[in-house]
Amino acid sequence: MKKILGIVSSARRLGNCEIMVKEVFRNLAEPCELNLLRLTDFQIDPCRGCYHCLFKDGDCVLDDDCSTVLEAIGSADAVILAAPAYFLGAHSALKRFLDRGLSFYGEMDRMWGKPAVGVAVAGIPGMEGSTLLGIESFLKLILADIRQTRVVYGALPGEIFLDDGNRKVARRLAQSLFGPKVPKSAPSCSLCGGDTFRFIGPDRVRCMLCSNAGTLHMQNGTAVVEMEMSDHQLFLTRQDVRNHKTWLIGMKERFMAMRKSLKPISVDYLKDGQWIKPHPKRQNANFEKDYEE
Ligand SMILES: Cc1cc2nc3c(=O)[nH]c(=O)nc-3n(C[C@H](O)[C@H](O)[C@H](O)COP(=O)(O)O)c2cc1C
Repeated sequence: MKKILGIVSSARRLGNCEIMVKEVFRNLAEPCELNLLRLTDFQIDPCRGCYHCLFKDGDCVLDDDCSTVLEAIGSADAVILAAPAYFLGAHSALKRFLDRGLSFYGEMDRMWGKPAVGVAVAGIPGMEGSTLLGIESFLKLILADIRQTRVVYGALPGEIFLDDGNRKVARRLAQSLFGPKVPKSAPSCSLCGGDTFRFIGPDRVRCMLCSNAGTLHMQNGTAVVEMEMSDHQLFLTRQDVRNHKTWLIGMKERFMAMRKSLKPISVDYLKDGQWIKPHPKRQNANFEKDYEE
């Protein structure tokens, strides 16, 4: 029996995200096992940017729940994710976990290519902002195979299923988890399927999901984006992940070689300003070391 991991990125018990994940699961064509993970229940500390995990097979210096979440993803056969819109973006629990992404590379072979679907839940139609991008970035960074993502609307807990429309959405998401991939109906990145772009020139755009650039033009009244691959795309192939890891590891050597010329640049700013301190109970171990010495 396949093991499905339902990831709920909302603290609200039996809220819209939770019931959406469960509704998608109920609609799966074959009997599966559902394990649930409420991301907001887990202590995920901010990444320190120390790169320790890159050199130690994913082992992180922080003592928190990151590896528990990673293990849950690694041992699942497929993922159903839902997160709410919070101030025009996906709930920060998603990003907090993603910021620890360097430690995922050690698990690449266990993580790569798991089928996944994602749902962005927003309270006000049209007010989802970048939430869907947040959902897709999360699925991409856990190296999943994104089968389909959708935005649904509902503010009060349970409201998404007041009528039947979103139950149909759940049904379609369930069908696509192990069935045919559902292409985007709106213009999208020909390389990764992302549909959020930033203009970087009059007709040049960058895909916010894979970070490749391309040219936008109109064809028979429809916007078409022709994308080009780059050295730092995120991540179209397993090799892209390996390349990025190798590049990052190379940065350590570059840093060691340039340390003497870089240090005076930073140190010149050491004494500027007064740091406002958090409450002593919440000061992290590095606080005094970083800023007082
Ligand atoms: C702090 C906060 C910020 C929110 N920001 C937005 C927003 O920017 N856009 C929107 O459409 N809904 C917003 N909402 C509404 C939620 O996305 C909506 O209620 C959703 O159904 C919550 O999902 P849940 O029940 O799983 O927690 C916000 C809700 C909260 C609590």
